[in-house]
This record gives sequence, structure tokens and C-alpha cells, in this order.
Amino acid sequence: MLHLKAHVAIFFLSLATTVWITTAQKQAPCNPGDSTALQEFKAEFQDNDVFGSWLSGTNCCSFVECNSGGRVESITIVADRYGVYPRLNHTGVVGASLGKLTALKSLTLIGVRFYGPIPTAWKSLTNLTLLYGVLNNFTGKIPPEVGKLRNLDKLQLYVGNLEGSLPVAICQLTKLSRLEIESQLLSGPLPRCITKLVNLQSFSLKDNRFSTPIASSLGSLLSLQYLNLENNHFSGTIPPSLGKLSKLQTLSLSNNRLTGSIPAELGKARTLRELNFDGNQLSGTIPSELTELQELDSLSINNNRLSGSIPRYIGNFQSLTSLGLSSNRLTGSVPPEIGGLKVSNRTGTVYITLDHNSLSGNLPNTLSNVGTLIASYNRLSGGFPLSLCVNGYSVDLSHNLLDTGVPIGTVPANPTLRILDLSYNRIPGPFPSWLSSVSSLWNIDISNNQFNVGKIPDSLLGLPELDTLKASNNKLLSPLPTSEFTSNLTYLDLHSLQLTGGISEKFFYKFPKLQYLDMSKNMLQGALPSSIAQLRSLFHLDMSSNNLSGKVPDLSALEGLQYLNLSGNMFQGYVPSIPSGERSSPGSAQELPDSVANFDLAPSKLVNVQYRYYIQQTLCIRKHFCRSTYSR
Ligand SMILES: *[C@@H]1O[C@H](CO)[C@@H](O)[C@H](O)[C@H]1NC(C)=O
Ligand SMILES: *[C@@H]1O[C@H](CO)[C@@H](O)[C@H](O)[C@H]1NC(C)=O
Ligand SMILES: *[C@@H]1O[C@H](CO)[C@@H](O)[C@H](O)[C@H]1NC(C)=O
Ligand SMILES: *[C@@H]1O[C@H](CO)[C@@H](O)[C@H](O)[C@H]1NC(C)=O
Ligand SMILES: *[C@@H]1O[C@H](CO)[C@@H](O)[C@H](O)[C@H]1NC(C)=O
Ligand SMILES: *[C@@H]1O[C@H](CO)[C@@H](O)[C@H](O)[C@H]1NC(C)=O
Ligand SMILES: *[C@@H]1O[C@H](CO)[C@@H](O)[C@H](O)[C@H]1NC(C)=O
Repeated sequence: MLHLKAHVAIFFLSLATTVWITTAQKQAPCNPGDSTALQEFKAEFQDNDVFGSWLSGTNCCSFVECNSGGRVESITIVADRYGVYPRLNHTGVVGASLGKLTALKSLTLIGVRFYGPIPTAWKSLTNLTLLYGVLNNFTGKIPPEVGKLRNLDKLQLYVGNLEGSLPVAICQLTKLSRLEIESQLLSGPLPRCITKLVNLQSFSLKDNRFSTPIASSLGSLLSLQYLNLENNHFSGTIPPSLGKLSKLQTLSLSNNRLTGSIPAELGKARTLRELNFDGNQLSGTIPSELTELQELDSLSINNNRLSGSIPRYIGNFQSLTSLGLSSNRLTGSVPPEIGGLKVSNRTGTVYITLDHNSLSGNLPNTLSNVGTLIASYNRLSGGFPLSLCVNGYSVDLSHNLLDTGVPIGTVPANPTLRILDLSYNRIPGPFPSWLSSVSSLWNIDISNNQFNVGKIPDSLLGLPELDTLKASNNKLLSPLPTSEFTSNLTYLDLHSLQLTGGISEKFFYKFPKLQYLDMSKNMLQGALPSSIAQLRSLFHLDMSSNNLSGKVPDLSALEGLQYLNLSGNMFQGYVPSIPSGERSSPGSAQELPDSVANFDLAPSKLVNVQYRYYIQQTLCIRKHFCRSTYSR
């Protein structure tokens, strides 16, 4: 369903204009029979701009393409996003009249929604070479009469409700070079005779409900360059015969029910650029023969049952730049040879996903080609390989067993790493000082580790590019930094860090751009400095569960504030001034009960009201946002 929606979305984008009708100047005027057929077709649909120019009595060759004899040769209709609906009280098969346009060679219907099946009357369109339809909402089976369209070169029908199996008659269309029937409800096995379509270069049945094993005879469609059977219910093993497809560039069998191992024979399909087997139940390991695929750019076997370790010959791939092995049963360590993957000429990066396996041991420090590495949810230990800073962009090593803050190697002169997630590991000691040398860092998550020494380094907070720092759930047991620095951070999460001591008046001046600040669940004491009101961009402020005391400062300058939680402190005195928000009825002063700031309280009523109790709960300034979370 998701895929279908994506398809639809892409098309809606291209349907910005409501009408586009090809026109051509021809000598002979429109053939009267064709002219009548077009008017019949138009009459079957509710009035719509699309057919606005199809005026009866005018030369039809002014709104569709005709040949020199005045016969209609080509029709392209791009309807608006709502489609052109047929009249609901119409009887008979909608669109049948087009069958009278026997000279038609090309029929393109985008967003023209039919009501019912593909008209069998179209069997007369024996000169048709292109039938291209998107969002036509045809229902029912593909009629066997499709076999009469002997000259069809391209049959492309995307997004609809076609059901039943692919009719045997389709095998009569031996001139087909493209057969793409995607995002429909087709089911059953492929007809055996499909092997007659020897001219097929592109064959896609993605997003349907086809089942049974993939016929080994597909290996005889030697012209195939593109084969896409993803998102179906195919079962059984991957036929080794597909290795005979000597022109094949893309093979996608993802999201089926395929079992068995990946056939070594695929290594013979030397033109392959992209292999996608995601979301099956494939077992075994990556056959070494695949490294013979010199053009292979992307190999994706995520979400399968691959076992054993990542083979060392992984480095022998000549042009592989994207490797997906997430969610398998891989064990052993990550071999240093994985660093042999080449930077893509096209994307300029190497992309590797290894998450959700049982990989263990230290990461190798050979990863200077890697742009993105996602290796979360493994059992990796040791330290961070700094080679990932050479070409790195985004690295996720969260949910592992990394257990030292000492990195492997040295920080390169011009680091590139932007996003680093080391959360949920077991790194002890002080916050790693090497982080402060990776000047390119933009987003760091080092939460949920065992950091237990020293302050949050000023040099880290002051990294010029740093926008987001998540450091919660560690055991620093130390005060806040006091030295002079300015930070570009907009998002700072320091909750549950065992921070001690007071907050100096100067502290908030260091973070002029903050939008999100969470310092909850610490042991901070003393006053909340009034300088907090300098953080004009704040929309989330959580200081709850500390030991802050005194008066809450005036917060009325924080006009964007959407979440404020000061509960679990020792505040006394007056309720803070807070921005009045959207609802600003002048509330009368009243004494507030213990459950002050329950979610429904109009904010204006909170302002400057004498208040005897501790602030117990969140003040929700805009009711709507009370329970929202802001994760980044
Ligand atoms: C049904 O058909 C009649 C006659 O063609 C037409 O006038 C009427 O508008 C149609 N009703 C709908 C709902 O399309
Ligand atoms: C179909 O195409 C053939 C060959 O191009 C041509 O001779 C014939 O006239 C066409 N048929 C019609 C009905 O135009
Ligand atoms: C497609 O057609 C069916 C009936 O054939 C109708 O129920 C459904 O609403 C139509 N869908 C769209 C998107 O037009
Ligand atoms: C990438 O580019 C280099 C130099 O431009 C070229 O030698 C190499 O063959 C290219 N690799 C691929 C896989 O296209
Ligand atoms: C903040 O970013 C700007 C560029 O956006 C940069 O010039 C400045 O040096 C940065 N500030 C700090 C403290 O690094
Ligand atoms: C406010 O903070 C307290 C303690 O940190 C927490 O238990 C409570 O759920 C928070 N309230 C809201 C509405 O987020
Ligand atoms: C909270 O701070 C007060 C002083 O403001 C102190 O007496 C008290 O012990 C602190 N409580 C805790 C739990 O730290």
C-alpha cells in the first residue's frame, strides 16, 4: 500500500496542469468515424476541462494527432488529480468507443479513471504500439483480447485495481519490449508461455500479489535489462537461470517470500548494476562469485536470514558502493576488507547498513571511504574508528557494546563527519575528547553510556557546526561548565546526567540559539537565573526534577515556548510570567489549587497570581502541544 501511495504521489506531482493534449497540423481533416468515436468517448465522462477542447464539429486533428489520411494516430490525455469520472448512470463498457480508432498507434491516459474493466472492444487497435496508463482505476481481469494487440511494443499500466492472473494471451504480444503492470491486484503464477516474449527488455510486476515460485524459464528472456518482481508473494528459491541474463542491469525481488540461498550463478550476469533481495527469507552467505560483477553498484539483502560472518572477499567488489545487510543473522567481526568498497562516481559516497545483526569485536580502522555506516543493534565492542571521519557523513553505532572512549587511529586533518550516534553503549570515563577535534560534527548523540568523570567539555559545546547534542543518561556527577564560550547549539539534552551545583547567570548566555533545552532529572540547585529569558528561540524547556528553588523568573519574553516543565523542584513565591499564547482573555486573579497548571488552564490566568505551592506540573501554554514530544 505504501508503495502504491508513493506511486500516486509522484504522479500527482506531475499532474499539475490539468490538460495537455497533443495537437498536430495535418492535411486531411479528421476521419468522420474517428470524430464520432472521440465524441462518444468524451460523452462517457463527466464534463471536465480535459475534454474542453474536444468540440464536436471541429476537426479532431486539432486536439489529437492524426496521420496524413486524417485517422487518429495518437492520443495523450493527462487529467487532473481527481481524474475524469465516467457518468455514474452510464450503461455499457466505458471507453469502448476508442476501439473504433483502428489506426491508433499510441494511447496515453494519465489520471483518466474508468469505471469497470479494460474494454474488450480495444482488441481492434491492432496497430497500437504503446498503451500507457496511470491511475485509470480499471477493475476486473485483463481481458484475453489483449492478445490481439499484436503490434504492442510497450504495455505499461500503473496503479489500479486489475485482478486475476496475467492472461496467457499476453504471450502473443511477441513484439513487447516493455511489460510493466505495477501496483494492481494481480495474482497467481506467471503464465509459462511468458518465455515467448523474447524481446522484453523491461519486465515489472511490482506491487501485485503474484505467488508460486519464480519460473526458472525467465532465464531465457535474454533481452532483459530490467526485472522487477518486488512486493509480491513469490515463494521458492531464486532461479539460478537468471544468471544467464547477459544484459540484465537491475534485478529486484525484494519483499517476497523467497527462501534458500543466493545462487552463485548470478555472478555470470556480468552487466548487473543493482541487486535487491530485501525482505525475503534468504539464508546462507553472499556467494563469492558475485564479486565478479564488475559493474555491481548496489547489493541489498536487508531483512533476510543470512548467517555466518561477512566474507573477507567483500573488498573484491570492483564498483560496489552500497551494501545492505541489515536485519540478518550475521556473526563474527566486521572484516577490514569492507573498507575496500569504492566511493561511487555517481553519489560520491559509500553506504553500508549492518544494523540488527550479531556482529561483535572491534570495528576495523579501514573505513575511510565510508560515507554512511549504520551498524546499530549489534554486539560491537572497543572504540570508535576515526577513519570514519575521513569521508563520513552519518554513522550510527548505537545499541552496541562499545566500551572505551579511546578511539582507534587519529582524527584526520579535514574531518567530514556530520552525524554521530554512539548512544546506548557502555563507554566509561570522561566524554571523549576526540569528539571536540571533529570540527565537522553537527549532530551528536552520546546518551545512555557510562560516562562518569569530569564536566561536559566546553570544547564540545563550542564546536562551530554543532547543532544538536544529546548526552542524557550518564553519571557525570559534576557541575555545569563555567568557562567562557559561545555555542551554536539549538538542541541540548542533558537530562539524567547527575549534574550538580548551581546554574550561573552566565550559563544561558553561552547558548543564544537554543530552541530545545532539557536539563531535567539532575541535582541542580539554587535559582533558575533570569538570563533564561534571553533564549528567545526556546520552544521546549524542561527543568523538572531538580532541586531548584526561589522564584521562577519572568519568562514572558519566551514567545515561542510550547512546553514548559518545572515540576519536581522547590520553587516558591509567584507563578512566573509566561507568554500569553494565542488565548489571551484577561483572567481574573485567583488562588490556584495544588494541581495548578493542569492542561486546560488558560495561560493568562497564570500570570502574576499569588501562588503558595510548588509548581507541580507542566504549564502548557498552547494546550495542543502539551503531550507532544520533540525528537530529533
Ligand atoms: C445520467 O444520464 C443522463 C442522460 O444522459 C444525464 O442527463 C444525467 O446527468 C446523468 N446523471 C449523472 C449523475 O451523471
Ligand atoms: C496499420 O499499420 C499498417 C502498417 O503500418 C498500415 O498499412 C495500416 O494501414 C494500418 N491500419 C490502419 C487501420 O491504419
Ligand atoms: C475505482 O472503482 C471502484 C468501482 O469499480 C470504485 O468503488 C472506486 O471508488 C474507484 N476508485 C477511484 C479512486 O476512483
Ligand atoms: C569512476 O571514475 C574514474 C575516473 O573518472 C574511472 O576511472 C572509473 O572507471 C569510474 N568508475 C566507475 C565504476 O564508473
Ligand atoms: C556559529 O556558526 C557561525 C556560522 O553559522 C560561525 O561563523 C561561528 O563561528 C559559529 N560560532 C561558534 C561559537 O563556533
Ligand atoms: C514533567 O516532568 C516530570 C518529571 O520530570 C514528569 O514526570 C512529567 O511527566 C512531566 N510532565 C509532562 C506533561 O511532560
Ligand atoms: C535541595 O537544596 C536545599 C538548599 O537549597 C538543600 O538544603 C537540600 O538538601 C537539597 N536537597 C537535595 C535532595 O539535594
